[in-house]
Order: sequence, then structure tokens, then C-alpha cells
Amino acid sequence: MPSSLADQCILVTGAATGIGRACVEALAGRGARVWAGYQTGQEHLMDELIRSVAAQGGIVRGLEVDVADAASVKAMFARMEKDGPLHGLVNNAGVILEKPFLQTGEEDWQRVMSVDLDGVYRCCRLALHGMSARGGGSIVNVASDLGFLGREDYVAYCAAKAGVIGLTRALAREFAPLIRINGVAPGPIETAMVSPAHMSAEWMAREVAIPAARLGQPAEVAAAVCFLLSSEASFFTGQILGPNGGSWMGG
Ligand SMILES: NC(=O)c1ccc[n+]([C@@H]2O[C@H](COP(=O)([O-])OP(=O)(O)OC[C@H]3O[C@@H](n4cnc5c(N)ncnc54)[C@H](O)[C@@H]3O)[C@@H](O)[C@H]2O)c1
Repeated sequence: MPSSLADQCILVTGAATGIGRACVEALAGRGARVWAGYQTGQEHLMDELIRSVAAQGGIVRGLEVDVADAASVKAMFARMEKDGPLHGLVNNAGVILEKPFLQTGEEDWQRVMSVDLDGVYRCCRLALHGMSARGGGSIVNVASDLGFLGREDYVAYCAAKAGVIGLTRALAREFAPLIRINGVAPGPIETAMVSPAHMSAEWMAREVAIPAARLGQPAEVAAAVCFLLSSEASFFTGQILGPNGGSWMGG
């Protein structure tokens, strides 16, 4: 049976690495035509991704974007719209900050918010203009289990991701029934963000102290994203799925 994502035009932000890259591969593998948002300096990663997806018969086109910059996001949507309607959006771009709260200054706070929360707002707003005019579409926002759990020394990140969860639920109500808006709140996933290169052995041990007793893989998050975007999830809206190895079991 052909995938309901076949020929759908879907934008993934933060697409050059980690979970975003896995989403691009999974969506293209299901026949979607993927726009992949990448940052300046990631051209080589994007070229390699486009080549490897093309070798499997998939279609990916790269777009440079800084989601912290409203003009850059606007330019990206203008470029995509020339090419036809956007059916799906995966707001995945994100940054993390480990800092005690009393050392988290205005600049730190704004930097995290501008990418992790404002970036989602900007992309949702422009995507929803087109989707509501057309009367259909599906959005998945990448939050984090830390948006539910909270964690010391990660206040800005936790606040931004909790914001993404609230934004997702409110938008789901506002744009129902024609547009479905869901989220995923991954637990610790093996990417550059959560790796021995960036974290102490104590932190890594804490990351895997979850029922699954291991880090998740980006493809395990991408599978949830594909499901939520697809027509198989036609009765899902305002939901936050948790590919998290059991780190968070609440609603
Ligand atoms: N790895 C985890 O354990 C984990 C857990 C929960 C949630 N997440 C979330 O998953 C998403 C992807 O993270 P990842 O783990 O793949 O790490 P990652 O660092 O590989 O991916 C983040 C991506 O966002 C992009 N990005 C950062 N700032 C940007 C900006 N201003 N404009 C455009 N793109 C920007 C980066 O270039 C990068 O490609 C993030 O939103 C992250 O918060 C990750």
C-alpha cells in the first residue's frame, strides 16, 4: 500500500543532523518531497544527505535558514511557496543550554527562546497561513521530555520546550478540525546534543537511567514523526507522543 505521505511536500527544520536528518530520511523513504532547512556552515552535510537520499530514489531539497531570524524564515517560506503548497511541517531545529539559573543571563535566555520557542512560532505561523487557506495540513513540533520533567541547570531549555507543548495544544484547538498539530517529546536520543563529546560521564549515566536503559536512536523519533504526519494518525491532534524509553509516562 502506498504511504499517505507519498508526494506530500514536507519541511523539516534542523535537518542536517541528528533527529532532523533521520526525519528527512524517513519521510523521503515514504515518498514525501522534503524541504530540508539547514544552517549556514552545514552545506557539506546537506549535500551528503541529498546525495544519500537520492541514491535511494528520494527527493530532498535544502534551504538555508536561521529560525531565530524572522526575515530568514520568511524568505524560506517565500522560496517554498513558489514551488507549490506545503502539506506538512516538522519543527525540529533546537539548541540546548546547560547553565545554573542564576548564571543564565538575558542573552542566554533569549538565545534559547529565539530558536526553541520563537522559531516554532514563526514557522507555524507562516505554514498555517497557507494550510488554512487550503483547508488542510499537518504539523509536528519537536519538544522534549524535559518540557514535562524539568531539570536543574536547564531552565531556559525546559521552559522553551514546555512552551512548545502549550503552543502545540493551543494551535491544535484553534486549527481543528482541518489541520492536525501534534508534537513529540523525545527522551535522551543519541545525537550531537546528547553525546559523550558534550556531556560528562555522570550526565551520560543519568541520561540512560530510564526504564529502557539506553539512549534512543534518531530513527525511533522519526518513526513517531512520520506516524503523526500521516493519515494513519487522522484522529490525533494536540497530542504529544513520547519516544522516550519511559523517561516520562505522564500525559
Ligand atoms: N537528542 C536528544 O536527546 C533530544 C531530546 C529531546 C528533544 N530533542 C530535540 O530534538 C531536536 C533535534 O535535536 P538533535 O538531538 O537532533 O540535536 P542536533 O544538535 O543534531 O540538531 C539540532 C539542529 O537544529 C539546528 N539549529 C540550531 N539552531 C538553529 C537555528 N537558529 N536555525 C535553524 N536551525 C538551527 C542545528 O543546526 C541542528 O541541525 C531539538 O529540538 C532538540 O531540542 C533532542
